[in-house]
Amino acid sequence: MTAFLKACRGEPTSYTPIWLMRQAGRYQPEYRAIREKVSFVELCKNPQLAAEVTLLPVTQLGVDAAILFADILLVLEPLGIGFEFTKNDGPSIKKPVRTSADIDAVVEDIQARDSLGYVMSTIKNVRAALPRDVPLIGFAGAPFTLASYAIEGGGSRDYQLTKKLMYSDEGGWNALMHKLTSATIDYLNAQVEAGAQCLQVFDSWIGCLGPADYVRYVKPHMQRLFSSLDKSVPHIHFGTGTATLLAHQRDAGGDVIGLDWRVELGPTWQALGAKAVQGNLDPYTLLAPREELKRRASDVLRSAAGKPGHIFNLGHGIFPEASVDQVRALVDHVHEASQR
Ligand code: CP3
Repeated sequence: MTAFLKACRGEPTSYTPIWLMRQAGRYQPEYRAIREKVSFVELCKNPQLAAEVTLLPVTQLGVDAAILFADILLVLEPLGIGFEFTKNDGPSIKKPVRTSADIDAVVEDIQARDSLGYVMSTIKNVRAALPRDVPLIGFAGAPFTLASYAIEGGGSRDYQLTKKLMYSDEGGWNALMHKLTSATIDYLNAQVEAGAQCLQVFDSWIGCLGPADYVRYVKPHMQRLFSSLDKSVPHIHFGTGTATLLAHQRDAGGDVIGLDWRVELGPTWQALGAKAVQGNLDPYTLLAPREELKRRASDVLRSAAGKPGHIFNLGHGIFPEASVDQVRALVDHVHEASQR
C-alpha cells in the first residue's frame, strides 16, 4: 500500500506523504493555457482534459496523491439548483433555495452515475494513466457548505440567509440537508465504484457556526453521510475555521481529520485522539522566502513528531498567485525532512 493510503489508516510510513488542495489550478502556466481555450465548467465536463489536468501536479510536483479535477458545485446541476461561473465574481447560483417551495423542488434522487457520468469518466481516465503508487482522491462538498451556496446564491462573508433559514425553519433546513446528504452519498459512492481510492468531504465554510449549532443542525447529517460511504476506501473530513468544532467533526466521522493553520497540529491531534490528521501549513506561507517556507514546513513536521497518521497538506487550497517553484520546493522539502 502507498504511503498516502497507509497514513490515512494511521499506519507507519518511511516518510510523510504530501498532497495539496487545489494542486491543479491557475498557479500553473499549463492550466492557464488550457483555460484560454475552454471555460472552467467545460473543462470539468471534458473527461479527457479534466484527466490531463488531474495528472499535471503528479508529474510536475511529485505529490503522493492525485485529486480528481472537478468542483463541489457540479452536483447542484442534477439537484435542480444550477450554477454558473461569472467572469470575476466567482460562482452564481441559478435557482437559490430560500422558501419551502424551493426546498420541495430540490431533486430527491440525483442518480449520480448518470447525471454526473462525466466525472466518472474522468476518474476512469485518470486511473488508467496514474502510476500505480499514486492513489486518486475523489471528493464532494459537505451538505452545509453546499447548502450555504444554494441559499446565499453564491459565496458569502456572513452566511446571513443560511442562518436565517436554519434558525427560522428547522424542518425545512433538515429537509434540505437530507436531500443534499443523500445526493452526496450517492455521488461519492459512485466515485469509488468508478475508481476513486480515497474520499475527501469539503466542509469549507462550516467554521461560521458555533459548536451548539453544529451539533444541532449539521452533525446528524454528517453522521449519516459518513456512515453511508463505501468503507473500502478511507474518508477525509475537511473544514476551515474549525478549532472549536473538531471534536464534533471527529465524532461525526472520517478516518482523517483536516486541520487548518489556526491550530497547533501536535497538541490538537493529541487532544482529538484521531487516527490520522491532514494539514496544516498556512497556504500564504508559499509567499515567504524559500528558507522561511522550509522552516515553517519543518515546524509542522516537528509538531506531528513523526507519529504515524500525518498527511502533510496546506490548511486550505493553493491560490492563483503562488509559484510552481515554491510549491515544488515545499513538496521536496517535506519528503526530505521527514525521511525516517
Ligand atoms: O486540485 C484540486 O484541488 C481539485 C479540484 C478542485 C477545484 N475546486 C477546482 C477549481 C476542488 C477539490 C475544488 C473544491 C471546491 N470548489 C471547494 C472546496 C475547497 C475550498 O476551496 O474550500 C469550493 C468551496 C469550491 C467552489 C469554488 N470553485 C469557488 C468558490 C470557485 C471560485 C473561486 C476560485 O478559486 O476561482 C471555484 C472555481 C475553481 N474550482 C477553480 C478551480 C481550479 C478556478 C476556476 C478557474 O479556472 O477559473
